[in-house]
Amino acid sequence: MAWLLHISDLHAVAPGQLVSGRLDTGHLLHEVITTLRARMQAIGPIDAVLVTGDISDDGSAESYAIARQELERLGVRLLVIPGNHDRREPFRAAFSDLPEIAPRGLIDWVADIGDTRVVGLDTLVEGQGGGALRDESLSHLREALAGSGDRQVIVALHHPPLRTGIRFMDAIGLANPDALRDGLDRHGVPVRILAGHVHGVYHGLLGRHPVVTAPACCSAFAFDRRADAAAGFMTGPTGCALIDTAPGGVWTELPFAHGEGPFTF
Ligand SMILES: [Fe+2]
Repeated sequence: MAWLLHISDLHAVAPGQLVSGRLDTGHLLHEVITTLRARMQAIGPIDAVLVTGDISDDGSAESYAIARQELERLGVRLLVIPGNHDRREPFRAAFSDLPEIAPRGLIDWVADIGDTRVVGLDTLVEGQGGGALRDESLSHLREALAGSGDRQVIVALHHPPLRTGIRFMDAIGLANPDALRDGLDRHGVPVRILAGHVHGVYHGLLGRHPVVTAPACCSAFAFDRRADAAAGFMTGPTGCALIDTAPGGVWTELPFAHGEGPFTF
């Protein structure tokens, strides 16, 4: 078993910058990490923090330095994959000391955490919002599944293979979810897929494989399926997720804002 803290979409920027002229994501991330640290005794031991992309908003080296500094405050092993806002080479430079990060090529990796194999897949297509899995990543997935032995497998990628109904997000989704499903179908058992990108919690199935997305650290998107829904962001709800990979273990959302209490019944 393994306990994973799933964080996504930090959207860090260079100092003094705001995302969309409004969001101070550096400050928000600092608050997020402070909140998590304060709750860590209640949350319990964590084996790894999995960050599913959009670590930076602007791709700058400064933004990665800020994000890395904040993430390190959790004091837990980091697993990171890029999202559409990231830039692969500054991303690689910021995390090059992590054992999973290859010195060149796509940022695909395998990490065995206890009896759980986490497979990170790089869906970043630089210069566009939508993502895609290249043949290289799909063969990496095949090898990672073939060598997984008795381990449970989790696949982590930025762009979820789901439609949310939010049109401006579905327009920049994963281009080839069927290729992912075909790759996973060769495995004997369902594989859990964790993603980010959509700044909210969405559950679904890719064939027989369960998919769930984490909320973002910095913003959310209104759930509005109308064709003329405004494209834009909300300041919340924000949060992250916690996964116990053991059989019968839970996936739960950890919202960053929660109510007062607990009060006695
Ligand atoms: Fe994002």
